[in-house]
Amino acid sequence: MSFQFSFRISNLLSFLKKQFRYISILLIILFFVLVNVVYSTEKTTITLMIQALEAAQWQNLVEKFERENPDIDLEIISAPNATNLVEDLYTSAFLLGDSPYDLVYLDIVWVQKFAAANWLQPLNNFISEDELKQFLKGDVEGGKYQDSLYRIPFRSDGGMLYYRTDLLEKNGYNPPETFTELINISQDLQAKGKAKWGYVWQGRQYEGLSAMFVEVLQGFGGYWINSDTLEVGLDSPEAIASVQFLLDTIKKGISPSGVTTYAEEETRRIFENGQTVFLRNWPYVAGLASKSEIAGKFSLKPMVHQPQHQSGACQGGWGLGMSKNTKHPEEAWRVIEFITSEDSQRDFILETGYVPSRKSLFNDPQIVEKYPYYPQLLTVVENSVLRPPIAQYAQASDILQRYLSAALTQTMTPENAMKKAATETRQLLN
Ligand code: GLC
Repeated sequence: MSFQFSFRISNLLSFLKKQFRYISILLIILFFVLVNVVYSTEKTTITLMIQALEAAQWQNLVEKFERENPDIDLEIISAPNATNLVEDLYTSAFLLGDSPYDLVYLDIVWVQKFAAANWLQPLNNFISEDELKQFLKGDVEGGKYQDSLYRIPFRSDGGMLYYRTDLLEKNGYNPPETFTELINISQDLQAKGKAKWGYVWQGRQYEGLSAMFVEVLQGFGGYWINSDTLEVGLDSPEAIASVQFLLDTIKKGISPSGVTTYAEEETRRIFENGQTVFLRNWPYVAGLASKSEIAGKFSLKPMVHQPQHQSGACQGGWGLGMSKNTKHPEEAWRVIEFITSEDSQRDFILETGYVPSRKSLFNDPQIVEKYPYYPQLLTVVENSVLRPPIAQYAQASDILQRYLSAALTQTMTPENAMKKAATETRQLLN
């Protein structure tokens, strides 16, 4: 028995010795298979930063994405709501080197700067031209830099004029078409004690001021920078008249003097509290105001203009770009694909009232049932005014904001402020 046993052991040992080479190869293969199994069950985290108000609204989308993609954790970092502050945070992350963000949630006006700085990867290879045609043209164009695509649009945006339907109807007014009508209706309703303020808009020194201003400028027939010729129109009579109009709303008490410190959210609250007849803001307000005390008492329309000119909605909007240094481009793309898909946009819009970037959704039965004004919204966003799509946009906007703010807080006359703004902008572009 013991003889047999030791015989078998020595047999086995000599067998192992002979086959040593093959056995070690087998073990190495086994090791790699094991590593692979462990590795593939580990989740990949895809990180991006979004302004706080919207980050909360993304919750359902994030949960749905993670349910459908169990191998990916989608981590959303909340940022302040003002676009400039989010831009600064992303910018410092990229300037410091390895950005912790796999994706960038990009305002349409950051694309040129981020792409020129080489912080984003081109996305042309991930998406077909046919697929891109499903999106609004302005939003796709706004995502390009030197013919490459860097941003897939998620939601479009366009500045609108909100008005109180109840107050206008009861007092025999149609919604205003011109700047003068807006002023007259405001003053009459304020005098009758119907509302504390006539018109509220974003006057703080930040990106929202430039966005609001291009609409007034368009309504007066002026322009900021011609992106083809780089001509600057800020010292034209139309531009000076645009500043004068805004200043007058403050001087005449139609707008509170505090308007020069307001961003979108402050003005939304004044409208929702029933304190103003008119408000300039983005379509996101419609969804939130429908849950406020003025629910059912307001509507929105394109911005007012001079009788001989057209109105213009500032083209805004947000979309997803991919960081140049992400270690997970495939997974990051799966997030972009999911978030910008028709189904995700529909869910998000039904919940929040934002504007889709996919054309089909403006006439989507479920969306139109909830928001009957969406088909008209398509016309508004298709006729929007771009802020100049140039790589130096951030600096150009900064110059404009500084001088507009100086004029609106009455530390400079509109004429002097706009002359200075034009000169500095020309220096920047030369
Ligand atoms: C909105 C727009 C964005 C714009 C910002 C200004 O978020 O979508 O394009 O820059 O408002 O405050």
